[in-house]
Amino acid sequence: MTKFRKRVLVSEEQIADRIKQLGQKISSDYEGKKLYVVSLLKGSFIFTADLVRAIHIPVVIDFMTTSSYGHDETSSGRVQIVHDVRGDLTGYDVLIVDDILDTGYTMQAVKAHLQNKNPNSIQICTFLDKPSRRKVDVTPDYTGEVIEDLFVVGYGLNYGDYERNIPYIYVNEPIQ
Ligand code: IMP
Ligand code: MG
Repeated sequence: MTKFRKRVLVSEEQIADRIKQLGQKISSDYEGKKLYVVSLLKGSFIFTADLVRAIHIPVVIDFMTTSSYGHDETSSGRVQIVHDVRGDLTGYDVLIVDDILDTGYTMQAVKAHLQNKNPNSIQICTFLDKPSRRKVDVTPDYTGEVIEDLFVVGYGLNYGDYERNIPYIYVNEPIQ
């Protein structure tokens, strides 16, 4: 039976540093605007909680849940909105916040869905980005860390039903 060991990819200290920088950048970019954060559940709940506390301008915080057919770990391209934010976003500058941008199917569907609510602007903030996995043309405006094609766990990212509460990001590596 293969045994695995955890390899830390992004430590708690690295996460905290990046979030401080992201919060400062977002605060200055959105100064004077009506910032409306849309956090995609469940994966982004921890990142969102940290990020909004690093933002020093007024911010509305809302949550959205999506589901995609197929496996939890990979999107299928058919994304359903399970829980939605308010119907009209006129005048708001929307920032979609997610844990990781993988194929991009989820983000593309969410962005198109929110566009119909007439916001002033829509931008994307994802803590992790796996650009090599992209299937559709989606580019994040704010990114914590760019990573290779690895299945990562912790800091909101699940392994089965577990591990979302692990305060750092790791990969499981087989022990030779
Ligand atoms: P996308 O639609 O393929 O971009 O999928 C994004 C979603 O897939 C993320 O919000 C995660 O829920 C999940 N996901 C993608 N890669 C990973 C990973 O490495 N670990 C855990 N979940 C992942
Ligand atoms: Mg997710």
